[in-house]
Amino acid sequence: MNPLLQTHLTPSDTGVYAERRARLAQALGPNALAIIPTAPERMRNRDADFPFRFDSYFFYLCGFAEPNAVLLIDSSGHTTLLCQAKDLEREMWDGYRLGPLEAPSALGIQSAAPIAEKHAVIAKQLENKHAVWWPFATHEGLGQDVERWLDAVRAKARAGVRCPSMQSDVCAILDEMRLVKDTHEIQTMGRAGSISAHAHVRAMRYSAAALRRGEDLREYHLEAELLHAFRSGGAQFPAYTSIVAAGANACVLHYRAGNQAVVSGDLVLIDAGCELDGYAADITRTFPANGVFSAPQRDVYAVVLASQEAAVAATRPGARFNDPHDAALRVLCEGLLDLGILNRQDAGTVDDVIANRLYSPFYMHRTSHWLGLDVHDCGAYSEPLSEASAGVAPATPLTRPLVPGMVLTIEPGLYIRPAEQVPEAFHHIGIRIEDDALVTADGCTLLTREVPVAIDEIEALMRA
Ligand code: GLY
Ligand code: MN
Ligand code: MN
Repeated sequence: MNPLLQTHLTPSDTGVYAERRARLAQALGPNALAIIPTAPERMRNRDADFPFRFDSYFFYLCGFAEPNAVLLIDSSGHTTLLCQAKDLEREMWDGYRLGPLEAPSALGIQSAAPIAEKHAVIAKQLENKHAVWWPFATHEGLGQDVERWLDAVRAKARAGVRCPSMQSDVCAILDEMRLVKDTHEIQTMGRAGSISAHAHVRAMRYSAAALRRGEDLREYHLEAELLHAFRSGGAQFPAYTSIVAAGANACVLHYRAGNQAVVSGDLVLIDAGCELDGYAADITRTFPANGVFSAPQRDVYAVVLASQEAAVAATRPGARFNDPHDAALRVLCEGLLDLGILNRQDAGTVDDVIANRLYSPFYMHRTSHWLGLDVHDCGAYSEPLSEASAGVAPATPLTRPLVPGMVLTIEPGLYIRPAEQVPEAFHHIGIRIEDDALVTADGCTLLTREVPVAIDEIEALMRA
């Protein structure tokens, strides 16, 4: 229905997808078939669709961005794409279709067939296979479709056709593959980070300039600046709904961009990133609307920034996923005590604050998540069983060791709602600082630092 926006994504370099498919084929084991559909189109309201967004697993394996498509990959790596047939009348309305004739050469795959032949083609390919792999709990109705295709194979039993006896979750393989980004992905994520960083810079500058001009500045004006920068930078979409939260709204974690006035003296928290060629960036900056931090804002900001620095220092190969969180948490807790937001007499030491979770009214989320094709990307956070003690699951699994090529966010924050024991100067201050870290051979690289985090650098850029 609306593939126009995305058709230009047909890949120029098909080799990266071929390499991924070959790795998947190897992992399927002998005599197996993987069935991976793209996402369905979704209606927003009568006759108006949500913009189409392909399924991330599907896209990862072929780079094909049209709707109504299914990928079939067998153990030998032989790949068939089921896709929309050419239809000049439909294309007049909805846009170009690659079509099954062109698909093999354009995508570097072995064969293609019209999606209308899906049931027959899949049932045929399942004949005499040992196992079928498909993404569990991901596509509504796919489990029933698989049963239906298997039934069609079983119906041929007396003709000597064997039906697969194993069904497995292909996400178990693909999640592990997607967790460690390849060169192509790292380059794309770097560009997504760069476009998103410039969007934040643009919004910061706009905020200070609009207030200097005495304009009626609203949260949605800043969102508009972000969207402008994403699109003019070449990104297709925001990777998630942007958060633009002025003043007390920053303490609402899932606030969107509303119409609240952005006034001098407020902090503004913006959590926004673009999606470029399928890959997400995820950045949060918190800045003074008028470009100058007040003393209490500066104090809290300095704690959050120091906690982020501690987390960044803890992000390196061999460290566990939880190590950056633990490092950030300790600094945040020290800060809560130092600023008198927690009372030392009542709360005790930093270790007491951590053990008794006294930080939780002010810091209620984790510090990191995986990032990639999905903003909260796939991949287990706990240590894979085979690496843990001889395949026996420990009662509390450890988080997994970081390895080069993983990308995670580092996003500590403090959100200070009014409470009797909290000094009034800090009430309603909400600060988060979020960057995207690529684990490297000896530490990590932040992909999103073209927007500054240091107080003096933010103030300088907002003066400009
Ligand atoms: N923007 C979503 C997140 O930070 O997790
Ligand atoms: Mn995030
Ligand atoms: Mn975010």
